[in-house]
Amino acid sequence: MEKKKMVVLTGAGMSAESGISTFRDSGGLWEKYRIEDVASPEAFAKNPKLVLDFYNLRRKQLDEVQPNVGHLFLSRLQEFFDMFIITQNVDNLHERAGSKNILHLHGELTKVRSSKYPQLIYDIGTKAIQLGDVCEKGTQLRPHIVWFGESVPAIEAAVELTAQADIFVIIGTSLNVYPAASLVMYAPAGSRKFLIDPNPVEIPYGLKFTVIKKSAGEGTKELEKLLLSI
Ligand code: APR
Repeated sequence: MEKKKMVVLTGAGMSAESGISTFRDSGGLWEKYRIEDVASPEAFAKNPKLVLDFYNLRRKQLDEVQPNVGHLFLSRLQEFFDMFIITQNVDNLHERAGSKNILHLHGELTKVRSSKYPQLIYDIGTKAIQLGDVCEKGTQLRPHIVWFGESVPAIEAAVELTAQADIFVIIGTSLNVYPAASLVMYAPAGSRKFLIDPNPVEIPYGLKFTVIKKSAGEGTKELEKLLLSI
């Protein structure tokens, strides 16, 4: 029998139990930094060292964290479903948990690219980059991250995937940031829709989801029970 297509949209809450701070919870990253100082093209133009250091720290943190039970659970589901993960996270924890089809909407910490030639992208793992580190054409390298005010090149592919979902699951995102949040409206009317988050999340367009009010780890266990009764 053909496997059902399951599309999962994840956000910072997915990695919270691995010890990576979310953005908008109390104590989240955006309480410690101002978005406009570290995550915008203007910030990079104004104070590139601060921006590089911010991402260098976050990249280094990847060596200190591990995928949590939620990441591992999603990777195990590949056996039963045609699985696709659309993540807003720039960490590599879905990959390290063994998930295969992962679309990074907001970029990846383990990659950098030329600040002038966006097609020149390099894998750097968890190494730091500094001012003066350049691409093969001699221009400064920058994080391969979608900053505020920049376009989201992967959104079209994400819309296409979401539109084919039999099961659409949202885990650990406040759905505050567009266009990622707009994906909810592309899940087919007949698809099963679940949202896992320990806190209340306002779902755009008044769409109805089955809400599992739990952390990613606990919530995915609950999801397993619900899916097995499909
Ligand atoms: N398990 C699941 N969800 C959790 C957990 C947990 N253990 N802890 C917190 N959450 C939930 C919060 O309740 C919140 O709804 O995770 C969500 C995190 O929301 P945000 O901090 O807004 O993160 P996210 O939605 O991923 O942000 C989107 O904003 O700053 C940008 O580019 C950045 O990709 C990011 C985007």
